[in-house]
Amino acid sequence: MTDQITIPSSVISHDKCDEALLDNISNDLLKSSNPSTTWQHDKTGKISRIKTKIINCEKVSSTTYYGMETELGSGFNGQVYLLQPEGKEKRKAKAVKVSSNESLLHELKISLLWPLNTVGLMIRPKAHLTTEIGEMLIMHKYDSPLNKIYMTLSSEQKLEALYQVSFGLAMLHSLKITHGDIKIENILYDKLKNRYDLSDFEYSRVNNEEERKYDIKCLMSVIHSILFGSSQTYETSNLKYYQDTLLKIGYSPIVIDLILDILMQDNYSAAEICRQCCIALEKFKN
Ligand SMILES: Nc1ncnc2c1ncn2[C@@H]1O[C@H](COP(=O)(O)OP(=O)(O)O)[C@@H](O)[C@H]1O
Ligand SMILES: [Mg+2]
Repeated sequence: MTDQITIPSSVISHDKCDEALLDNISNDLLKSSNPSTTWQHDKTGKISRIKTKIINCEKVSSTTYYGMETELGSGFNGQVYLLQPEGKEKRKAKAVKVSSNESLLHELKISLLWPLNTVGLMIRPKAHLTTEIGEMLIMHKYDSPLNKIYMTLSSEQKLEALYQVSFGLAMLHSLKITHGDIKIENILYDKLKNRYDLSDFEYSRVNNEEERKYDIKCLMSVIHSILFGSSQTYETSNLKYYQDTLLKIGYSPIVIDLILDILMQDNYSAAEICRQCCIALEKFKN
């Protein structure tokens, strides 16, 4: 059987936001439980979700079993699998991240620092399980990581992605959290919601000025990949290359100027980059 931490829906105060706050979460909030939903992992490898409702003063439970099937992706700390509901077509598939170290607990704690469904940031994980095969994080299933789709984006979708990704980072920084590993593999796309969310918070820190600068540097690299379809190199980091390529993508001079302004400076905050991308997107649409 498994130990479960059910995710509370409360929002943590950010007035005294520092690393000690994360310790407080482990001692306090993580132990509280949500009485209506429980996740389990049994010896056969099945994951189940038990939902309990009170109907006519009686407790009624319904269980959904999930098979851990296809691998959705993997990284430094573990694998992510598709969780497919069995026999209940209407239930949505989920994703589960499995790791043999404690990084998933850290990710979960970080996610408790933002309100539920904060736009731009990964939808908060549903549960954390400690099982025989390692730690597990049950998550909303996204359709694709950005690294699999960025080559297929239209000119407008590119600007939309730039805007949303910089919005996510601006949101994170406004919560006094840094990401520490911004890259296209760690940005997940949800087609239905048309959302690009930051994910993978293993290296996230609280209140760290140096890390904030590092995040911006990595954001610039993501922006480069989205716009130019390649990683930044010496040859592809000059004004002439930027102008020619942006013109070929089909942007107007005013949109190009806005983008160049982001690419050619090095001291914008995520919020400033986001604002600039937002204006570029609006100019593109009009
Ligand atoms: N919730 C999810 N839905 C769909 N795919 C996911 C999800 N989370 C992760 N992935 C896929 O798994 C990969 C690795 O997950 P990630 O959280 O970045 O782990 P790591 O810390 O090992 O890099 C991602 O790049 C992505 O392709
Ligand atoms: Mg990753």
